[in-house]
Amino acid sequence: MPPVRVGLLGLGTVGGGVVNVLSRNAEDLARRAGRRIEVIHASARNLSAPRICSLDGLLLTTNPMEVVENPDVDVVVELMGGMSPASQLIRRALELGKPVITANKALIAHEGNELFELAQSQGTVVAFEAAVAGGIPIIKAIREGLAGNRIEWLAGIINGTGNFILTAMRDEGRTFADVLSEAQILGYAESDPTFDVEGIDAAHKLTILASIAFGMPLKFDAVYTEGISQLQTEDVRYARELGYQIKHLGVARRHATGVELRVHPTLIPERRLLANVDGVKNAVLVWGDAVGPTLYYGAGAGAEPTASAVVADLVDVVRTLTADPNHRVPHLAVVPDQVTDLPILPM
Ligand code: HSE
Repeated sequence: MPPVRVGLLGLGTVGGGVVNVLSRNAEDLARRAGRRIEVIHASARNLSAPRICSLDGLLLTTNPMEVVENPDVDVVVELMGGMSPASQLIRRALELGKPVITANKALIAHEGNELFELAQSQGTVVAFEAAVAGGIPIIKAIREGLAGNRIEWLAGIINGTGNFILTAMRDEGRTFADVLSEAQILGYAESDPTFDVEGIDAAHKLTILASIAFGMPLKFDAVYTEGISQLQTEDVRYARELGYQIKHLGVARRHATGVELRVHPTLIPERRLLANVDGVKNAVLVWGDAVGPTLYYGAGAGAEPTASAVVADLVDVVRTLTADPNHRVPHLAVVPDQVTDLPILPM
């Protein structure tokens, strides 16, 4: 079989990580996917910026649409982030019938309902494991591993930057602003870090998780959202003296009359597992009626952890390319025309 040819939009932290993981694990990936996976064409805003990966053998451009429309590109991987032009690029790829893999949680949370419909109408898929909780395979865990359950609730630390900041404030007594700049240097933070510290990034991710867990449309505007920017070093330290940790949580819970969706700082007793998730790590607790509580833990941001999720989607997508379209894994936990609207309860 010829290799699957990937077009990569974005060569920053995550894009560089994807190139490195694909190259380092090429043999294993070919065995798992049934075909070799090769990045052939990539776009970046600035082609002379420093990179964490080698660009040898790649066709490069500053125009991402060239990558999408390259007839030799079989699969498009979007790692630019932001709404525009990512939205137009992904739509174009889907119109051309190309599968799309993205880590873009903002775009999925806001436009996922339309993108999934477009993908389905074109007989292709949008995969977005890397959009939530970095390297933790939480989308696949809920959609596939817990498919036998009725999910009652989930709660998680789903912003690595925020957790990194709260941990360093507690352990090192550093100020909020100081730790945030370190998170930016390490490539954890969003290009607009207010998304991290005001809870918007976590709300994007919660929107996606709730949609998958409950089989409902994506409803970002309905999420109650509060960030960590008002917390002081003293708050975090006093909480610990009282036997609690302050963690920024996203919570989605099913009730008889609808769904509760909220993101805010929470006091968690120290003996609880979530209270002990520190640094850039994320963790998500998911409660299913058959399995009971399950916990997923790992790196929530960073080049290779996020690349791990992107490459897993690539392997999945390569497998689907050879499968009957009717048997492809749907984007959500339910097939798209079975998505059921659920009322969101006021906070
Ligand atoms: N800024 C995000 C975070 C990146 O810190 O969690 C991963 O989605």
